[in-house]
Amino acid sequence: TANQVQIPGLNTLGEAHVRLDVAPALLPPHYHPRAAETALVLEGSVYFGFVSSYPDNKLYAKVLRKGDVCAVPQGLVHFLHNNGTAPATLYASLSSQNPGLVLLGNSLFAGALPDDLVAKTLLTDQHTV
Ligand SMILES: *[C@@H]1O[C@H](CO)[C@@H](O)[C@H](O)[C@H]1NC(C)=O
Repeated sequence: TANQVQIPGLNTLGEAHVRLDVAPALLPPHYHPRAAETALVLEGSVYFGFVSSYPDNKLYAKVLRKGDVCAVPQGLVHFLHNNGTAPATLYASLSSQNPGLVLLGNSLFAGALPDDLVAKTLLTDQHTV
């Protein structure tokens, strides 16, 4: 990761960068509250997607291969699934030196929200939560 924490000279420049070395695994649904993101696949392939905002909540997703680029509008939920067997490498640029990271799973389940509220949100019961 290269943001203003690692490279103070990026402060106020409105950009951050990250190299992602992705083992076969899921980079779970998350969003960056303060940045749009573009990413370039350097090696391998990944199933990548984002979901548009309310009221459509439409999934835009496809398998990206070496040389492909994707763009995520600011604040939209996105994910990256290396569902193959080989590692993948991506280079991503974000439009803020402090893009922020919100992992939906953590937001729902890391303890801040009461179980009954999460259960109602997910149309399930507290035992399942
Ligand atoms: C990964 O998942 C996507 C979406 O379901 C699918 O199109 C693609 O073929 C999968 N890739 C592998 C390597 O299984």
